[in-house]
Amino acid sequence: MSVNESSFLSALNLEPTSKPPIWLMRQAGRYLPEYQIIRKNYKNFLDMCKEPITCAELALQPIERYELDASILFSDILTVPDAFNLGLYFAEGEGPRFQNPISSKKHVDDLNKFDVNDLSYVFKTVEETKKILPHNLPLIGFCGSPWTLVAYSIEGSGSKTFHKTKKFMIENEASILKLLEVYTNACFEYLKQQVMSGVNALQIFDSWADLLDASQLRKFSFSYTQKLIDLLKHDEITKDIPLIVFEKNPILPFSDNPFKNIQCLSLHFTENLKNSRDKLLNKYAIQGNLDPKILLLSEKEIITEVRKICNTMQDYPGYVFNLGHGITPDINPENIKLMIKAIRD
Ligand code: CP3
Repeated sequence: MSVNESSFLSALNLEPTSKPPIWLMRQAGRYLPEYQIIRKNYKNFLDMCKEPITCAELALQPIERYELDASILFSDILTVPDAFNLGLYFAEGEGPRFQNPISSKKHVDDLNKFDVNDLSYVFKTVEETKKILPHNLPLIGFCGSPWTLVAYSIEGSGSKTFHKTKKFMIENEASILKLLEVYTNACFEYLKQQVMSGVNALQIFDSWADLLDASQLRKFSFSYTQKLIDLLKHDEITKDIPLIVFEKNPILPFSDNPFKNIQCLSLHFTENLKNSRDKLLNKYAIQGNLDPKILLLSEKEIITEVRKICNTMQDYPGYVFNLGHGITPDINPENIKLMIKAIRD
């Protein structure tokens, strides 16, 4: 079987599959003891991301443990702002931070020109990962949405309120739009190079969609993600690569799909799966959307919730089982095994 006949790529093409293909957002990561063993060798997470052979091994870990139907590149969405010299680092227990967050109009005007070769460690990781994955297993490449990258770049870290970003948005709207444009073009080059290095599908993560009201969401998030999609769909190298978009809890119902020319909507756990199913049937593939918190409950509760989803999506051509957001470090890996068994049985 070739990679194009894999259940994951078939589902993205809206072809029926005998069982839903499964992969999980953040499937490689801190909840896995085998990840922790390797992670201990690095003080800074970013240093680990710059080691292609290690990253390939990390991408393979959940595949070996669970026999998942797709693999995801081991890297991070914040490598792109890092290539603009914002000084990305991961402080112990604090999540990502930037030493030089975007702080003024002048900072945006003076940003260095993006050089995709600064991210060659990521493309090397794609190549190394393809070498060790089963040959028919698809590899997903990814980037953050331009908006999500802008929010991190101005705030300088994750935040509950994103106060600085919202203030900047009011005081320097033109600069934000300029930065969105710069990041959109950088993401395009970045994803194109991932495709040239061997990825089989692409996912765009809009993880800070929930910060925006409806008109801001259209103006700052959706329109730039659409520009990125348009660039990919008009390029000879990337035009046939299936595109998945994840929107985290946007104020507008994502199942009304604001995007043209994508193949799959990755639904946050707050989306109503039944309604989405009815609206998207025979038009788009759906990925999602088990609430990761369910995986902290009892065996019985996990099986009940998984069955609900499988029943809702039964006979939906183009369904990919996934979570409605990433696996958290507190999840017991055995519960994931149980969940997968419930889907496949
Ligand atoms: O299997 C995989 O998905 C691994 C590849 C991957 C990582 N980050 C590795 C990682 C992917 C696809 C991402 C995407 C990512 N990174 C997103 C979008 C998805 C989402 O959850 O909304 C976001 C918002 C980030 C930014 C980021 N990177 C945060 C907030 C954190 C810290 C807290 C956390 O959630 O883990 C990271 C660090 C990070 N990225 C880790 C991993 C495995 C943990 C680092 C560690 O071991 O200290």
